[in-house]
Amino acid sequence: MIIIKEGLYWVGIVDWNLRTFHGHQLSTPQGSSYNSFLIKDEKIALVDTVWGPFAGEFIANLAQNIDLNKIDYIVMNHNEPDHSGALPALMAKIPDTTIITSPKGKETLQELYHQNWNFKVVQTGDVLSLGRRELQFIEAPMLHWPDTMFTYLTKDNVLMCNDAFGMHLASASLFDDESNIKQVLQEAAKYFANILTPFSKQVVRKLDELMALELPLDIIAPSHGILWRSHIDKIIELYYRWARGQSHDRIIIFYDSMWEATSKMAHAMAKGLRASGIDYKIVNLAVSDCNDVITEAFLARGILVGSPTFNRGYLPTIAPFVAEIKGLGLQKKVAAVFGSYGWSGEAVGLLEDQLEESGIKILQEGLRCKFQPSEEELKDCQEFARRFAHKFKEE
Ligand code: FEO
Repeated sequence: MIIIKEGLYWVGIVDWNLRTFHGHQLSTPQGSSYNSFLIKDEKIALVDTVWGPFAGEFIANLAQNIDLNKIDYIVMNHNEPDHSGALPALMAKIPDTTIITSPKGKETLQELYHQNWNFKVVQTGDVLSLGRRELQFIEAPMLHWPDTMFTYLTKDNVLMCNDAFGMHLASASLFDDESNIKQVLQEAAKYFANILTPFSKQVVRKLDELMALELPLDIIAPSHGILWRSHIDKIIELYYRWARGQSHDRIIIFYDSMWEATSKMAHAMAKGLRASGIDYKIVNLAVSDCNDVITEAFLARGILVGSPTFNRGYLPTIAPFVAEIKGLGLQKKVAAVFGSYGWSGEAVGLLEDQLEESGIKILQEGLRCKFQPSEEELKDCQEFARRFAHKFKEE
C-alpha cells in the first residue's frame, strides 16, 4: 500500500513479467500495472481491482491494511478482466459489499461472472458522499468499452479514469515526475494508438466535457502505469492531438522483402526523402513488433509501404499491418506504395486498395520494379520519394 494523499492509497499490482496483453494481441515489453485505489474516509471505498491471476496477492495485501469487512463500496470504473478479474474472489470474502458501476458496467459484470451481487448503478452527475469527501461519477462510454466511467474524488482532486491516460509500464515509481518521462509518454502514445484510436471522436467529446466541468485536477490516476501530477496539461494536450489525428511531419517507410529488391527500393526512397529534408524512418515489418509499428504509423503523417508480389498478393508479413491500420481507422494519413515483382505484380495495386479502403489518401500512383532494380530504377525510386515528399509538404 502506497500513500498518494492522506486517506488515499494505491493498492494495485505491478506486473513486471507481462509481455503480451489481450491474450497475445498487444505487446507489453515494459510490463504493466493494475492500479487500484483505497479511500479511507467515514466510508471506505475501493476503486477498481486487478487481473485474476493476482487476486490472491491483491486481497492478501489489502487485508494487511484494512479489515475487508469495513469496505463499504467497490467502485468498478471498467470491467475488462484486467480490472475486474479479482472481483469474484474479493466478493467471495465480502459478498454483501455494494458494487458501484455504470449501467453498462452492471450488465458487463453480470455477463462476465454470473453473480447476483449488490449493485448500485450510477450515471454522470451522480455523487456519493464518503464523509469528508465525495465521489463524483462521469460516464465515459467507449473509452474504451461501453461500461467505462471515471470517478473523481473531491477535495483531493483526483480523477480515477481507468484505461484513459494509461500506459503499459511496470515501474518502481508511482508518479510521472519520478519516472523517465520520455518513456512514459512513448508508452502512453502506444496505448492510445493501439487501443483508443478507434474511439477518437468519443475521446474528444469526453475531453471537452471534462474541461467544461472545470474540475481541479491534482492527479490523473489511470489504471495502468504511472499517475500524472506534473504533466497533466501535457497529457491532456497530447490526448487532444492524438484524438484529432494530428501527427508529426514525418514519413515512415514500411516494407518487407524476399530477395532484397524491395529493400533496395525502400533505401533508395529514403535517399529521396533525405534530399527533400523530410524526417523519416525505415521499418522492416518482418523484424518489427506490430504494435510498435502501428505506433510509428500513428505518430507520423506519411507512410510509404513496400512489398514484393507473392502468390498474387503482398507478403503475409504486411497483412497484420494493413489489417490493424484498417481496424484502428488511423486518421489524416497520406501514403504511396511500391514493390518488386517477378511476373504478375499485384502487390502494389492491392496495397493501394487496402490503404484507400482504410481512409488513407494515396498521393501518387505506386512504383513497381521487375526482379531487381537497376541503377536507373533506383534513381526512379529516389525521384518517386522526392515527388511524394513535395506533395506531402503541400497537403
Ligand atoms: Fe485495462 Fe480495458 O482494460
